[in-house]
Amino acid sequence: MNASAPHRYERLADLITGMIEVGTLAPGERLPSLRNISEQHDISVSTALQAYRLLEDRGVLVARPQSGFYVSHARPGALALPSRSRPPAKAANVSIAGVVATLLEHAADTTLVPLGCAVPDSALLEAHRLDRALAHAARTNGTAYNVYSAPRGELRLRQEIAKRAMRWGHAVSPEDIVVTSGCTEALALALASLTEHGDTVAIESPTYFGLLHTLEVLGLKAFELPTDPTSGVDVAALERLLATETVAACVLSSSFNNPLGSTIPEAGKRQLLRLLETHAVPLIEDDIYGDIYFGRERPKPFIALEGGANTVYCSSFSKSLAPGYRVGWVMTGALMPRIVERKFGFSLTSAVLPQVALAEFLTSGGYDQHLRRIRRLFQDNLARMTSAIEASFPAGTRVSRPDGGFVLWVELPKRLDTRALFDDALEAGICFAPGDVFSASRRFRHCLRLSAGHVWNTSIDEGVRKLGALAQAALSR
Ligand SMILES: Cc1ncc(COP(=O)(O)O)c(C=O)c1O
Repeated sequence: MNASAPHRYERLADLITGMIEVGTLAPGERLPSLRNISEQHDISVSTALQAYRLLEDRGVLVARPQSGFYVSHARPGALALPSRSRPPAKAANVSIAGVVATLLEHAADTTLVPLGCAVPDSALLEAHRLDRALAHAARTNGTAYNVYSAPRGELRLRQEIAKRAMRWGHAVSPEDIVVTSGCTEALALALASLTEHGDTVAIESPTYFGLLHTLEVLGLKAFELPTDPTSGVDVAALERLLATETVAACVLSSSFNNPLGSTIPEAGKRQLLRLLETHAVPLIEDDIYGDIYFGRERPKPFIALEGGANTVYCSSFSKSLAPGYRVGWVMTGALMPRIVERKFGFSLTSAVLPQVALAEFLTSGGYDQHLRRIRRLFQDNLARMTSAIEASFPAGTRVSRPDGGFVLWVELPKRLDTRALFDDALEAGICFAPGDVFSASRRFRHCLRLSAGHVWNTSIDEGVRKLGALAQAALSR
């Protein structure tokens, strides 16, 4: 069997989930007995049991002793979605560096339950294959690779990146790609090429705290746009902003915004691009989660729509393959000379060996297989985490329902302060990301982000439930 193809129990689990989604199986309805379903699908009873158990773990089914499996009444998704954000309609200086540094320090503490940092568990990545590719390159050609790479980075890697862009509809030359030190440097290069100190940049609210940090370092102001947990930024709000203020650039996630999980539908993306073009405002997009989608198709990034001339695309392999290799890239057209100039100024070039190893891995075809596996895993993790939240967090808690990535955004009753909860959680050995680090105006004090990037185990399950209990306790104080 193809190692990447779903197992038979996963296929059955998907089928049952689909039947529940379209209403063929209703909440509370009993599923066929294991014997019956195994006969219907020509599978063994143990395979059927595996499917039912998987759905039980996901909170889709409940098992009743001596009776069988039933469709759960409280399926994941039963909690309401977080509210659409309503940031202040004015640009603000960003001052976030201190709190981000503290969070990162705790998130790196391996003794804590790791719900704080959005990094994929190294056990889920293709570490051995990458190790081998890196070791082979060092052994056979180490001296030759101990040089400054070509200005834009290793050609073979850029060719592989260009081939992947071609798949989602963007024809690009390797000359229009610069390899960077992660997506962080890609975003910094794009911003430094398009803005001046003091300029205003339009962003999502909430947004990734690393972006806020970069805005702060570059002396840029943030204008936070209202953002819906499903459909992303409010295009009408952007239109109002552009009609009244000078905006140097707009920075948006291509899909699965961190932390909210939102994705602007394709029609909205096109509308937004036309609007930005009318006002001659460039778009910088961050597509770091794009490959980790749960639906049938990868959402198209902005650069693949409306010609892409006004767009600077940033991404990296940090969420899907190798956070420690620090390999990302920026892709754009006319702005390229400015980007290359700044790359020289920031870091000259990126290290060669990690690029060679990644190019080797991508050429071997292993990446797609790996992606199929981690997509299923992260989707599963998010479902388990949602179930644990449903079972343990205070009434009125809302949770995001992302179609990709591996983080959840949790909105608690307004009275709760997730800064205080953060301290309680650290004492209990749990790390999470408090909501206010995701906003330039330090909003979202009653929200938090949980990462589900680690292999699911009892410690993580119990950590989420314990956090729910701490939130309940804080509420009743
Ligand atoms: C949305 C987003 N962009 C960029 C980054 C940073 O990426 P890199 O590690 O490749 O610099 C992260 C990491 O958490 C992220 O979530």
